[in-house]
Amino acid sequence: MQELATRRKLLNGKVNFPLCLAPMVGLSHMALRVVTRDYLPAGAETLWPTEMLNSWKIPKEDLAKTPETFRAPFETGLVPQILGNEEEPIRDTVTRLIDWGAEAIDINMGCPVQKALKHNYGVALMGDPAYAAEVVRMTVKHSPVPVSVKLRAGPQGDFNFLLNFVRGLEEAGASWVTLHPRTAEQKRRGSADWEQIRLLRESVSIPVIGNGDVQTAEDVFQMLEDTGCDMAMSGRALAARPWMMWQVAETLGFGAPYGREGERAPRTPEDEGQEYGRALKKLLMILLETHGENLALRKFRFHVRTTGVWLDFGHALYSAVMTAKTGEGVQEALDLFFKTRVAMTPRTQLRE
Ligand SMILES: Cc1cc2nc3c(=O)[nH]c(=O)nc-3n(C[C@H](O)[C@H](O)[C@H](O)COP(=O)(O)O)c2cc1C
Repeated sequence: MQELATRRKLLNGKVNFPLCLAPMVGLSHMALRVVTRDYLPAGAETLWPTEMLNSWKIPKEDLAKTPETFRAPFETGLVPQILGNEEEPIRDTVTRLIDWGAEAIDINMGCPVQKALKHNYGVALMGDPAYAAEVVRMTVKHSPVPVSVKLRAGPQGDFNFLLNFVRGLEEAGASWVTLHPRTAEQKRRGSADWEQIRLLRESVSIPVIGNGDVQTAEDVFQMLEDTGCDMAMSGRALAARPWMMWQVAETLGFGAPYGREGERAPRTPEDEGQEYGRALKKLLMILLETHGENLALRKFRFHVRTTGVWLDFGHALYSAVMTAKTGEGVQEALDLFFKTRVAMTPRTQLRE
């Protein structure tokens, strides 16, 4: 494996860990970040996303009261992701987010939903390379911290298109890019084409974060080795097994996370199943402490729906969580479900 030391530096070298969580609407909120961070040993520094934040809304919001911008005081390495294409809202959003504690700003150029296409943001920006570069330029102009872009493969997986597009972003001042090499048409299904990450990393001089289909700690090292990317980003699977941070850290020679000293990272399907239950209970507790019961349960159910696919009988867990009407009821459902040892599968077919 390419030595981690030879990788390009993110956040001026502050980042020393090769795995980060992906920005995901409805999932990568403060509660999940805290649960995931708790598996990261002392001394390991990575990047932390928010959910996608609308640059037309953020300037008008009280960030301490908006669920999407809730943050814990001890959180560092925060890289909020913005959606936008106009200078004034972007400027005001960046100003607010810097006050909030952003250490970098990520621009979304990968969101494929109809609304994004209609309003010319998200992946629609990939249809207009010159304007996309302009969006980076206007963000960099107003940002005292690095600006990155998260994007997808080019239309029909056209690598030359992607390369020219990224060169434009680089010239406009992007400090790094994250490539999720599925096309807009693929959305989040099918397999991600890691070869595009390798080619891109080889062809540009800014750091490249690889994303897509990283389901296990082995996948993290495989992606680093196969593509030479500077960091791997995992979305759904890291939400499902946040202790992937610990597994990777253990392989790299870091100590155990705080409170788990003397233990080894869970690796067997049964140990992972137990850990999934432990992590879920913690997530539920933080969500209930942070939000009203309704919102907490909505977020929790969505988390179980997305991540339960790695768990044997995950559908039964999801039904139990849907049936319970209160936070206490969900807690009881979790206690009952995880009384029996259930296994977690390393890999699954990603459909959504
Ligand atoms: C529920 C959900 C919401 C997502 N929201 C965002 C988003 O707000 N911004 C973004 O750049 N990508 C978003 N994504 C895409 C992920 O960041 C990531 O690129 C994709 O899931 C592939 O990574 P994975 O295979 O590790 O999950 C979302 C994905 C999911 C599953």
